[in-house]
Amino acid sequence: MVEKFEEIKRNLQDEIRSIDAQKNAEQLRVKYLGRKGIVNDLMKRIPTLPIEKRVDFGRQVNSLKNEIADSIDALIKRLSAQSVSTSKAELFDISLPGKPQFVGKKHPLTQTIDDVKEVFACLGFDVAYGPEVELEYYNFEALNIPADHPSRTDFDTFYIKDDVLLRSQTSTVQIRIMENQKPPIRIIAPGRVYRPDTVDARHSFMFHQVEGLLVDEGVSFADLKGVLYQFIKAYFGQNIQMRFRPSFFPFTEPSAEVDISCSLCEGKGCSVCSYSGWVEILGAGMIDPNVFKAVHYDGEKYTGFAFGMGVERITMLKYGIGDIRLFYENDLRFLLQF
Ligand code: PHE
Repeated sequence: MVEKFEEIKRNLQDEIRSIDAQKNAEQLRVKYLGRKGIVNDLMKRIPTLPIEKRVDFGRQVNSLKNEIADSIDALIKRLSAQSVSTSKAELFDISLPGKPQFVGKKHPLTQTIDDVKEVFACLGFDVAYGPEVELEYYNFEALNIPADHPSRTDFDTFYIKDDVLLRSQTSTVQIRIMENQKPPIRIIAPGRVYRPDTVDARHSFMFHQVEGLLVDEGVSFADLKGVLYQFIKAYFGQNIQMRFRPSFFPFTEPSAEVDISCSLCEGKGCSVCSYSGWVEILGAGMIDPNVFKAVHYDGEKYTGFAFGMGVERITMLKYGIGDIRLFYENDLRFLLQF
């Protein structure tokens, strides 16, 4: 009988060694200590034994039972401690290197607008905004653009209703500001504009402009030139040259188009500047007296200048981007380069 007991204990220890989950340890308890388990089988034998052996046998079975219960309890304790300590280790292993998180970044056009704002803030300009859905009056009439001007046809402007349109230039904001404020005025107005152009590497039906407007007593063309000079040097760098060419806009007189030396070929000539060494970046001029009339400003007392530049254009020139469509495709391979 003693041998039988020893065999049971050995088997138990073998089984304990191969167990690695708490669930299996519970099964082991059922197998040895359950109602139909090994220990109970031994108990059932007691009444079949001769009377004088019963007490001794019973004692031995009891101590076997206690031994087995202790072994299984210890096993369960060990397994549950193991699982707690591994999950704690997983949660709190402070020695692991951190996982890099992808944080978004500004779109290059937003970045350019921020850069432009910053330069003009240094020159004392505030930032103003106007609506993209605009009245014909602000986009054309108040800006001295006559009713028969070709830009007013629906070949050049998106109309929503008869007199409601998507603004084709940020010059609309000039009027809205002057209607509501008295000089001195010094603002820039960034925003989207819309034109029904066929999309290609240089054109888009929507793009961005930054308008500038300064009105005060005694403002001259030299002030316009000085402000733009400061901006161009600050945004493109000290080596960039600037030139004014005479031009025409209905809302400025005199008017100019402003070129900078091609930043890609440094003025030597390349396909971007059509081998001229110069690229146009903005239109500008002194506010036309008819515009002052529309906003009830005294044109004898005040003078001012305005300019409007393409945000995509200056971004493309600064970074050597060859296709305007890249700005709108949301391709991270492009966007993450800036
Ligand atoms: N609004 C003009 C354009 O879109 C640019 C401009 C603005 C010209 C202000 C002169 C003064 O082409």
